[in-house]
Amino acid sequence: MNIREEKFSIQKYLENFRFLEENDLFSNDNGKTKNDRIEVQGREYPRFTNEYWTSRQRQANSIHEIAYRACFKPQLPRFFIELVTEEEDVVYDPFCGRGTTAIEAALLGRNIIANDINPLSKILAYPRLFIPTISELERRLSNILLNENAKADMDLSMFYHPRTEAEIVSLKNYLQERKESGKEDKLDLWIRMVATNRLTGHSSGFFSVYTLPPNQATSPERQRKINKKRKQKPEYRDTKKNILRKSLDLTTDITESPRQQLRKIGSKAKFLTADARHTKEIPDETVQLTVTSPPFLDVVQYVDDNWLRCWFNGIDPEEVEKKITIVKTVSEWCDVMADVFKELYRITKPGGWVAFEVGEVRDGKVKLDEYVIPLGTEAGFECEGVLINQQEFTKTANIWGIKNNERGTNTNRVVIFNRVGGKK
Ligand SMILES: C[S@@+](CC[C@H](N)C(=O)[O-])C[C@H]1O[C@@H](n2cnc3c(N)ncnc32)[C@H](O)[C@@H]1O
Repeated sequence: MNIREEKFSIQKYLENFRFLEENDLFSNDNGKTKNDRIEVQGREYPRFTNEYWTSRQRQANSIHEIAYRACFKPQLPRFFIELVTEEEDVVYDPFCGRGTTAIEAALLGRNIIANDINPLSKILAYPRLFIPTISELERRLSNILLNENAKADMDLSMFYHPRTEAEIVSLKNYLQERKESGKEDKLDLWIRMVATNRLTGHSSGFFSVYTLPPNQATSPERQRKINKKRKQKPEYRDTKKNILRKSLDLTTDITESPRQQLRKIGSKAKFLTADARHTKEIPDETVQLTVTSPPFLDVVQYVDDNWLRCWFNGIDPEEVEKKITIVKTVSEWCDVMADVFKELYRITKPGGWVAFEVGEVRDGKVKLDEYVIPLGTEAGFECEGVLINQQEFTKTANIWGIKNNERGTNTNRVVIFNRVGGKK
């Protein structure tokens, strides 16, 4: 039996577990399947709980390894892409972040549309569809002149050695000049993406002295305190070497075939920087599958987290923060998402799907999945149920140099919708 021969249903999917297991689509049932039903607004929906995907099950491609706040694992979009789409179908993510859905879909030969109101998202995602060879990159980097007297227009001495700062400013100026003169090409975009990712972090692979992870810049004042506490001073980092090193890591799994595949999909891809409620560039009824995780309830400090990455890319973080959906109450969140669902309904093909991941909010006290069901159904979708992926993990937390092994669960709550029939 082929899972795609009949209308997809999660129930059927589970019934056919053996088939799926043999085909390596669902290979991790270890007796944890827990199915029940939830009632929302007087209707019952199936809920399936299991460890559907794990990081071990299928290693994610190295090209995903870019830090982004609240990103999901590539295995999540892969699971749905393999289930309900075929090559050449369009896969969309309205809140694409670092581009996990888009890149995974492209690796699987699907066409992609990606949107995120944060301009850093496109900077981090799009270039990874056009992967240069290391020798091309080496050549380009060696042609970029580094002015050892260049200085930032603000005090960054708590993060960078003066020579590193001079190199970062030279790279920033080079990239800006290329963009403004219309000469910016895919290699420049790659360098911008990697450099943006290398600005701050906690190892010598980053440009900065030890600090927070790259998706959470700290303030200059706080960094001074960190330096004092750790008795550290920024050491020189060779920015070009670090860019090459990270590029090598990112491309570990990239052979010629995925490189060509990504390039082919990339040349047809649509990247938008719009509000997910208003994406008029996407024609009606064109998307086979949307896999997404929206901005959550918890207050995100966009400016605090991104001021340095925005500075490097000439973006005004205050302007971005004004546009980003940052809501404090469930009801405000639902108002925004209701409009997102209307837009998703418009662009979804009849028979197409939406997998809407809401994670664990406030330690699982707020079950956003149950709020999401009526939003989708009111927009016209059928809700097929909620899929809960529960993955136990041991993580090593390294706080100020002290290693702790913490056990935890990583839970994804995905509400699945189908657009049945034709126009609403
Ligand atoms: C949870 S993150 C998505 C992460 C993504 N799944 C990944 O793997 O990187 C939510 C994203 O929504 C974006 N966002 C917030 N409000 C938005 C809006 N109104 N329209 C479009 N994007 C928005 C944020 O910039 C953020 O990147």
